[in-house]
Amino acid sequence: MSTKVFLNEDEIPRQWYNLAADLPTPMQPPLGPDGKPISPDMLAPVFPMNLIEQEVSQQRWIDIPEEILEILYLWRPSPLYRAKNLEKALGTPAKIYYKNEGVSPAGSHKPNTAVPQAWYNKKFGIKKLTTETGAGQWGSALSFACSLIGLKCKVYMVRISFDQKPFRKLMMQVWGGECIASPSTQTKAGRDILAKYPDTPGSLGIAISEAIEEAVSDSTGQTRYSLGSVLNHVMLHQTIIGLEAKKQLAKIGEKKVDVVIGCAGGGSNFAGLAFPFVADKIHGANIDIIPVEPSSCPTLTRGPFTYDHGDVAKMTPLMPMYTLGHEFVSPPIHAGGLRYHGMAPLVSQAAVEGLIRPIAMDQLHCYNSALMWARTEGFIPAPETSHAIAAVIEEAKKAKEEGKEKVILFNWSGHGLMDLKGYESFMEGKLTDYPLPEKDLQASLKSLNGLPKAPAVKTGKW
Ligand SMILES: Cc1ncc(COP(=O)(O)O)c(C=O)c1O
Repeated sequence: MSTKVFLNEDEIPRQWYNLAADLPTPMQPPLGPDGKPISPDMLAPVFPMNLIEQEVSQQRWIDIPEEILEILYLWRPSPLYRAKNLEKALGTPAKIYYKNEGVSPAGSHKPNTAVPQAWYNKKFGIKKLTTETGAGQWGSALSFACSLIGLKCKVYMVRISFDQKPFRKLMMQVWGGECIASPSTQTKAGRDILAKYPDTPGSLGIAISEAIEEAVSDSTGQTRYSLGSVLNHVMLHQTIIGLEAKKQLAKIGEKKVDVVIGCAGGGSNFAGLAFPFVADKIHGANIDIIPVEPSSCPTLTRGPFTYDHGDVAKMTPLMPMYTLGHEFVSPPIHAGGLRYHGMAPLVSQAAVEGLIRPIAMDQLHCYNSALMWARTEGFIPAPETSHAIAAVIEEAKKAKEEGKEKVILFNWSGHGLMDLKGYESFMEGKLTDYPLPEKDLQASLKSLNGLPKAPAVKTGKW
């Protein structure tokens, strides 16, 4: 078996997969501030209608426009690798496969949705996109996509990452994007937070409020907001990862996958790889599907499933999801992309159903796993990706104990070449674990008081 499996460009999947069509219990609708379901028109100041249609679509397969594929060909189909050296180092009978999403120009899976989002906005006549970014991966992906498609891009970057990762800001600027630290004084949402907490490290929830505020207050109507995770249409665009993986595994005669793993911040890279396999599970396949989150931001493993806002200023509709409360500010861990308080509603509903099995990992364990990976497989992973790697190593060890030749597939969501400061702190022994203290969780959950509850409806089959 060779180390990597390629697909030709003409073998790329030509449709995205929409899990909403197959979930055994229907998704509960997003709600407005009055607690009533919102209509697509109400989202129109924030997103273009062509993306809103995808957001609410129940269609199983959605065609990928040819012009989008032409841009995706810059790095897609991404290679499927077999991590042979890691297998050997672990002495495991398991076969470990991974999709290398670090080969994109921006270095992660994020351009898989940045390109379609920029393209649909452009088609709709929009001239500028605003967004937030945590670790900077999403901001650079959207800046890259906007530069190729011809849109302006403004990125509110969570302050702690802005300070930790100056090269991400420079990447955005190289692609013509404007990047400022959030909270900023440029929006009311930012000013309000700064007045209350002048030293805040920022959060994705705050940066989202700022980016939405700027988009909806453009009186020309030519600015829209773009989100890099969480929403249904983002999950949809990312499914190209799992659909490619299936074709690649079939190419090498691998018939059955036992374990599917992805790290989970807002849920998009996990969903992108996992949803086509969740569909198989719904139809009877026996697959252990594991989203991995940090113990410092344990949304799926310790948060309740309920309605919550996606941002601190409550500008987004209420979404049914696992959440730590929209006022949650994560401890300053290095996996900036895994600090979001909520989880994609589609991923959340899959968890409610028991179709996926969330776990949480401590930061030091993840960095140790990242080093083991880099020293066997070579590529240096993003701190976010190291969470998936930590889980992969645990599963491979389990397979060894059980003496089973399991097939493990995971999403290598991005490289860590812009995250070396985190590696430096780890190697100098300056990092610690930050499992979220129960009292902080309880304090943060207070922001859910008075919001409607989302019943956790499930069939009980899984
Ligand atoms: C490399 C990488 N992996 C994972 C994530 C987490 O996001 P999501 O859960 O949407 O995939 C991020 C977010 O910034 C990221 O940069």
